[in-house]
Amino acid sequence: MLDRFNRHIHYLRVSVTDRCNLRCKYCMPAEGIKLLSHDDILSFDEILEVVKEGEKLGIDKVRITGGEPLVRKNIVKLVEMISKVEGIKDLSMTTNAFFLDKYAQPLAEADLHRVNISLDTLDPIKYAEITRGGDLNQVLKGIAAAKNAGLTPIKINCVIENNNQEHDAKEVLAFCKANDLECRFIRKMDLATGRYWKVEGGEGGDCSICNRLRLTSNGMIKPCLFDNQEINVRELSPMKAIKMAVSLKPRCGTLNHYNQFYSIGG
Ligand code: 5AD
Ligand code: SF4
Repeated sequence: MLDRFNRHIHYLRVSVTDRCNLRCKYCMPAEGIKLLSHDDILSFDEILEVVKEGEKLGIDKVRITGGEPLVRKNIVKLVEMISKVEGIKDLSMTTNAFFLDKYAQPLAEADLHRVNISLDTLDPIKYAEITRGGDLNQVLKGIAAAKNAGLTPIKINCVIENNNQEHDAKEVLAFCKANDLECRFIRKMDLATGRYWKVEGGEGGDCSICNRLRLTSNGMIKPCLFDNQEINVRELSPMKAIKMAVSLKPRCGTLNHYNQFYSIGG
């Protein structure tokens, strides 16, 4: 699909839950969140329908996000359902890796191609601080499991304050180089104030080449991460909702007052 600015839209990011086992400071409030109710969350069949209709319209790349996608019940089943859609050439997941030691192998068997893993520091104390209680060792185990299962290339998402010369950023980069992982630096963003930057080592945040749509776990197609617009796939059909989102995709991002990172998956 081409949008009004001649960008080729072929990438759908699917948030499967607003829940997460962690509470990263830049993503979730400490007290937790008002969770969506079960009825609001799209079922696997509904998600599959959106992916299938999207594929007919030219979507060939899908990423599963959250919240934390691995806390959604039976997530391996959903991966299997999506991986069977013929035209999806690239199927990936963004995860905090906490449950990957358990899930990497089943996910690979369900034909997930690869994973992106969030890791901002290699200091276990700092990691626990940033994530408000996370266990760095579990992430390292998850990375090893992903490698063993062949969920490659593995990309590491490292959130930075300002630049890649920060101590933690340098350590994460060295760790990536030593372990055959790709490293991407993501400067901290703010949806409500519209502060965003290009992802270093990735394609995100570069409006001129943006090729994405997002589906939230409660069934909204978002034309842009930094935009309030959203189209309900249950109110329109998935096909109409996707077409409308493409037609409304803004030239560049501005503000998003409706979502938090945990509800849209970055
Ligand atoms: N700014 C930048 N990146 C963020 N993420 C979550 N919140 C923010 C934020 N405020 C990133 C996480 C994760 C991905 C899903 O989104 O680091 O890797
Ligand atoms: Fe969970 Fe990821 Fe948000 Fe951290 S950034 S709280 S791991 S969804």
